[in-house]
Amino acid sequence: MTTSEIGLIGLGTMGAALASNIADNGFDIAVYNRTTSVTQEFHAQAGKLAAKITPTETLEDLVAAIKEPRAIILMVPAGDPVDQQIDALRPLLGDNDLIIDAGNALFHDTTRRAREATGPFMGIGVSGGEEGARFGPAIMGGGKKEYWDRVSHILEAISAKFEGTACATWMGEEGAGHFVKAVHNGIEYADMQMIAEVYGIMRDGLGMDAAAIGDVFAKWNEGPLASYLTEISGAVASATDPETGKPMLDIIVDAAGQKGTGRWTAIEAQHLAAPIPAIEAAVVARNLSSRMDERAAGEDLYGAAPKHIPHDVVALDQLEQALIAGKILCYAQGFSMIEAASDSYDWALPLPKIAQNWRAGCIIRSAMLDDMATALGENPDRNLMQAPFFADHLKKTHDALRQVVSIGTLHGIAMPALASGIAYFDAMRTGRGTANMIQGQRDYFGRHGFARFDADGKDHHGPWAD
Ligand code: 6PG
Repeated sequence: MTTSEIGLIGLGTMGAALASNIADNGFDIAVYNRTTSVTQEFHAQAGKLAAKITPTETLEDLVAAIKEPRAIILMVPAGDPVDQQIDALRPLLGDNDLIIDAGNALFHDTTRRAREATGPFMGIGVSGGEEGARFGPAIMGGGKKEYWDRVSHILEAISAKFEGTACATWMGEEGAGHFVKAVHNGIEYADMQMIAEVYGIMRDGLGMDAAAIGDVFAKWNEGPLASYLTEISGAVASATDPETGKPMLDIIVDAAGQKGTGRWTAIEAQHLAAPIPAIEAAVVARNLSSRMDERAAGEDLYGAAPKHIPHDVVALDQLEQALIAGKILCYAQGFSMIEAASDSYDWALPLPKIAQNWRAGCIIRSAMLDDMATALGENPDRNLMQAPFFADHLKKTHDALRQVVSIGTLHGIAMPALASGIAYFDAMRTGRGTANMIQGQRDYFGRHGFARFDADGKDHHGPWAD
């Protein structure tokens, strides 16, 4: 029966949640999973939604179940599986049928797929984890606008809403949607790392237990730091392990995993020459965290750092202020990278709309994003650090960030993301830097030439040239 408005392939955690969300919003959906039992089980457990869901056992049946022109969402693992799925599906489709990759694809792959596609194709970034996918994710669309327009009524309906506005936005052509999602994840990494570093000060410096730390995050979540990541950090710190009765955090191994999106962001930032040091530091910190044996050997060799910080040396308020400054700088770096990509790839990425799109549903949703949307709307070309509203915040908080990084460093507590945040801030407020030395060195060993303050041109040389 050709009754479904849309199809979905891949009923893993995210695919199943997204399919249920679509059905829950009143759209008939046909679903397919390579393993038929997964499809059957999904349908059997769909409850009242089952009537809106058509389970299919072959790709041919899936295609036959969807109204023309068809739209089919792929929720399969990023990389080769996406190409394989497209290759298997495309020959079964009509010329006007649309394939939508909603996984966490590398945006260069999405651009390639859009260019190679023999029929309509688009890539959308979906953020919000399983709960977001089920009840309202933030959606970042990329591809031809006419393709977006064909499915935007469904994507807007299933997306999160911020004060009634759908968090589903078309970002631009080709891989633009997945690019914006990658930067989202880069900010996610940096914000999470900064929170973890402040947790380190509380645990190792101030000797606080997990429950007390949980209370601090919960309190901060009522102020300028209000955000999903602050909220869940409080919940994680407050949780007790049902098996041992100990704080859950004390049972979790301190080696961070990663699927790779933060790394993609860091690599792409280097290609774009876009400075995102806090995001890069967060990726490095995850890599470093996984080297547990080397870290243990280092502790044996050098001895454990002193770490203990007297309570009158650092106050919790100061930590909060430091985190506020750090968080603003994470977003500032992310948005400035988006601007760099917009120029480089000719995408016209809508910075204020991106901030608006992230206000609900996604992992980096935060109370600050509404003000960021306003600030970027007033001047999309300006680094958020220079937007009056955030400059006021940073003027009040950067000293706390500096002090926290200094105190932590003096006590041997590693804070790579916060430290890179203050270094970025200082570099970005320094009219006269030190790269004249670099230019002198380059000219000395390679006659690369330099610009002079007192003359035009870029190809001057120093006296060492002779
Ligand atoms: C989201 C998240 C999600 C991401 C996971 C895991 O926006 O919903 O960014 O897409 O895949 O958070 O990412 P890592 O394994 O790289 O930490």
